[in-house]
Amino acid sequence: LPISPFIASLPKVELHIHIEGTLQPLLRWTLAQRNNVPLKFKQQTYLTYQELLESYKVTYNHRPELGGRKDVPTFLEAYLAGCEVLLREEDFYDLAMDYLKRCQAMHVRYVEPFFDIQAHTRRGVAAGAVLNGYLRAQRDGAARYGVKSQWIFCFLRDEPVEDGEAAYEAALPWATCKGGHGLFHAVGLASNAYERPPILFKKAFARARADGLHLTTHCDFGQKDTHEHIRQAIFDLGVERIDHGLDALDRDELVEGLKTRGVGLTLCPHAYHRRTATGALFPKLRQLLDKGVKYCINSDDPAYMHDVWIDGNQEKAYHHGGLSKADMVQLGRNAVEMSWADESVKGSIY
Ligand code: ADE
Ligand code: ZN
Repeated sequence: LPISPFIASLPKVELHIHIEGTLQPLLRWTLAQRNNVPLKFKQQTYLTYQELLESYKVTYNHRPELGGRKDVPTFLEAYLAGCEVLLREEDFYDLAMDYLKRCQAMHVRYVEPFFDIQAHTRRGVAAGAVLNGYLRAQRDGAARYGVKSQWIFCFLRDEPVEDGEAAYEAALPWATCKGGHGLFHAVGLASNAYERPPILFKKAFARARADGLHLTTHCDFGQKDTHEHIRQAIFDLGVERIDHGLDALDRDELVEGLKTRGVGLTLCPHAYHRRTATGALFPKLRQLLDKGVKYCINSDDPAYMHDVWIDGNQEKAYHHGGLSKADMVQLGRNAVEMSWADESVKGSIY
């Protein structure tokens, strides 16, 4: 779907993007050379750039735990394989600068990227290498590209809670609170949600709240126990946003909970469209608007999702969702309102 001039020119705010999910084949190839890391994935080794490029064309397996195919890689396996080339502070810096440069080109003015620090520390990378790389990019990206960012620490929900708590403790000096370096101002919950309900992280989230940080959690579309996960996120954890959360539409009490508690959804239409028919998916965007649920449009992991970025996701919502130009502008304003940016930043976008 080509990006229309209207979508291209909209000022944008992105609230749901995993920085590690923006690692494009070219940078991955470059970092593999620089760090002397083989590009291995499962039984395969990518020996040429062409082979690596080809690997991005597969459609990943969805929900193998629920009976999916065993011979097709899952999205998370591919994403974590990509992470293997990220070793030094410079690598994390280059990854983030690549994305922020692209933001400038797409008129993304402000962004709240997620980072999965445990995906790196559990491979033996020092927390400081990850955090200092992103911190320098936060500063240089704002100065060089005019793209401000405030970042979100994600717990890996499929790892033991204590591991996440230890990672949080190590990262805290880089947070906005308590005179920290100011990289991240929120925590989130990512990775495989299968039998890992948000409630497991209730204490970790309460701690982050007490430290003055904002809270959000993933409740992906079509997951097992998705309605219970959304209920826990709203009512037990008291998050301020939900990442995805589209299944709330099935239950009046969840729609009501989102509205009365002022919880907005960060939706990623292309992520769902990969595995959902157009006619089953896009009417939901219209319905959410009509019911008064606040949401915005984002990209999730564009490098691993057919190179569809925030503009491509907005184009899909516009084209398939029966949304008007005024609706699209409203969704852009929603992103500003749902963001945790300083008032001065919020006021500068529209
Ligand atoms: N971590 C990074 N990308 C993710 C996704 N799309 N779903 C769950 N966890 C993730
Ligand atoms: Zn996500």
